[in-house]
Amino acid sequence: MADQLANKAEGWSGRFSEPVSELVKRYTASVDFDRRLALADIQGSLAHAAMLQSVGLLSEADLAAIQSGMAQIRGEIERGEFKWSIDLEDVHLNIERRLTDLVGDAGKRLHTARSRNDQVATDVRLWLRGTIDDVLQLLVDLQRALIDLADCHADTIMPGFTHLQVAQPVTFGHHLLAYVEMFARDAERMSDCRRRTNRLPLGAAALAGTSYPIDREQVARSLGFEGVCENSLDAVSDRDFAIEFCSAASLLMMHVSRFSEELVIWMSPRVGFIDLADRFCTGSSIMPQKKNPDVPELARGKTGRVYGSLMSLLTLMKGQPLAYNKDNQEDKEPVFDAADTVVNTLRIFADMVGGIRVRADRMREAAAEGFSTATDLADYLVRKGLPFRDAHEAVARAVRQAATAGKDLADLSSNEMRAISPLIGEDVRQVLTLAGSVAARNHLGGTAPAQVRGAIAAARTRLAAG
Ligand code: ARG
Repeated sequence: MADQLANKAEGWSGRFSEPVSELVKRYTASVDFDRRLALADIQGSLAHAAMLQSVGLLSEADLAAIQSGMAQIRGEIERGEFKWSIDLEDVHLNIERRLTDLVGDAGKRLHTARSRNDQVATDVRLWLRGTIDDVLQLLVDLQRALIDLADCHADTIMPGFTHLQVAQPVTFGHHLLAYVEMFARDAERMSDCRRRTNRLPLGAAALAGTSYPIDREQVARSLGFEGVCENSLDAVSDRDFAIEFCSAASLLMMHVSRFSEELVIWMSPRVGFIDLADRFCTGSSIMPQKKNPDVPELARGKTGRVYGSLMSLLTLMKGQPLAYNKDNQEDKEPVFDAADTVVNTLRIFADMVGGIRVRADRMREAAAEGFSTATDLADYLVRKGLPFRDAHEAVARAVRQAATAGKDLADLSSNEMRAISPLIGEDVRQVLTLAGSVAARNHLGGTAPAQVRGAIAAARTRLAAG
């Protein structure tokens, strides 16, 4: 009896001779997670109702009743008073039923010329559009924080690494700006995904469109969509926009994860390039001396969740024939989880970057190790006329000699230098300094402090222009 009532509650009991089992009801219900779409659902319904009224499918009185009912429902949801019921399967049926309880037949008329198939596709797109806007703002915040830090460290010298071995000196500002470039591309990808997300499925109805004289463009305009989905079958069935979001989110998190890895390395006491503010770290329950970089480590770990969401959605979609299939109900949790992970991570990172304490002395010390100016010496010999390959060979010998003697290149005496090559004169000293090395890379995209300042100005202008 109770189950029969459940089928009745869903509004299709007429077709069935037995109710769904309790287990099936729980298995098929989505309200526990899709209730996050509630405000988008109401927004979509209001636009749909206004259109129905303007084309003569709904009276003014019914529209007014729907509007006031929805206002009340929104209030109930925002105050946490709304009674969600899994008997009503999903967010759409829950809200529609409450509306009908509140305003009677007007509520039952709302679903004219609409199906849950175009309704849910619309809701997900509206929700995701809002989330993309949040992500875009957070990417701006993070880039600003990185740029501000880079500005303080345009002249700070650190070792640049290849194969995690000291390679050539770079400026810390330049290193940070590499991440600004990555996050700028992530923002481009998000904006691009937003354009394709921002299209209206409503009007596609279940799959074939509707026999009512609807005005889809009006609905699109009132919801701020850039246009309508042009094919009804495509409109209700494809979730490529959500996949695109997870793909852009995966790349973004990949960048966050690389940055995190560096923060962890830089903060290791062995390296000691930076310190993170205490509020982003935790201690150990057993080792009193520890201060662990938990936030970057967790961000590195959470990157996997976002990749997982991408894989879920790609797999969800690949076997589906046109048009809507219930598989698509499974699109929401991965999208929500990816969005939550990205939003929370970016929020914390923008704050964390602002609090990075840089230990420039440790960076400089490390940059001086490992013969990081060897390339500069080779370039010097080339400028004196030696072919590059011969210069490379001569410097390699010099490095070996210095290493055996436990010295740095700069510590070799003038005689030792001349033994490497008679072309070396006293002017080599400037070339072997760290400051001379970075200053020499003074071209667009190079690490010289002057270039870093130029890149900072350009990045600020780019952000200000939006
Ligand atoms: N909860 C469903 C979803 O998320 C809504 C669409 C249901 N449509 C259907 N034909 N069963 O996809």
